[in-house]
Amino acid sequence: MKFFLDSAIVDEIRPALELWDIDGITTNPRHVQASGMPFLKVIQEIGELVKGTDKTVSVQTNPASHNNYQAIVEEGRKLAKLSPNFIIKMPCTEHGFKACKVLYEDGIRANLTLCFSPIQALQAMRMHALYVSPFIGWKEDNGEDSDQFIQDIVDIRDSQGYETEILVAAVRNGRQIGYAAAVGANIVTAGYSVYQTSFQHAYTDMGIARFQGFWDKTPYE
Ligand code: E4P
Repeated sequence: MKFFLDSAIVDEIRPALELWDIDGITTNPRHVQASGMPFLKVIQEIGELVKGTDKTVSVQTNPASHNNYQAIVEEGRKLAKLSPNFIIKMPCTEHGFKACKVLYEDGIRANLTLCFSPIQALQAMRMHALYVSPFIGWKEDNGEDSDQFIQDIVDIRDSQGYETEILVAAVRNGRQIGYAAAVGANIVTAGYSVYQTSFQHAYTDMGIARFQGFWDKTPYE
């Protein structure tokens, strides 16, 4: 399973590429705003970080176009010209699905974001989305189960033979990452601190301190 970083902050993306070998980046308007940089400038800077690799950068179109597929397509074509690594992100709406199909026919791949039901995921698959992004953190914040949700989307993909990759998004902890991997999701995307915390364990730290004690009392040669 691939690990994507959910961020538009270059000072997070650079170390995550170097230390964790993350496989891709997902951005959204919140992340771009948090970067403190203009949209086009920051996405191009992120594109430079992955230039020459197969790591993708999901770049979100203007949410105002959610009910106008021609506008999504126009913006998607413009963004796709900026970098071969860019994947165009649009919402799971009737017009978002249609834009995905039109862009696919142009050779431009899409990430269908804001997915909250198995049927939305199925329509993204039918429209040849490269990625579909079920937002599990938002569901859980709303008191809804997300484990069965992910399982259902995986079952649909496998039973129907679609190639769309399931990109589990809005991931909040290591348990969710492990679950997504166990049931066959292709990718998770999470923030920098979620990965940092997930890679740590108190027993690992305790074990290092314990072994250090023995190491220090033992001659090396
Ligand atoms: C990913 O593509 C999404 O933009 C992201 O996971 C949204 O989640 P958030 O609630 O962490 O911003």
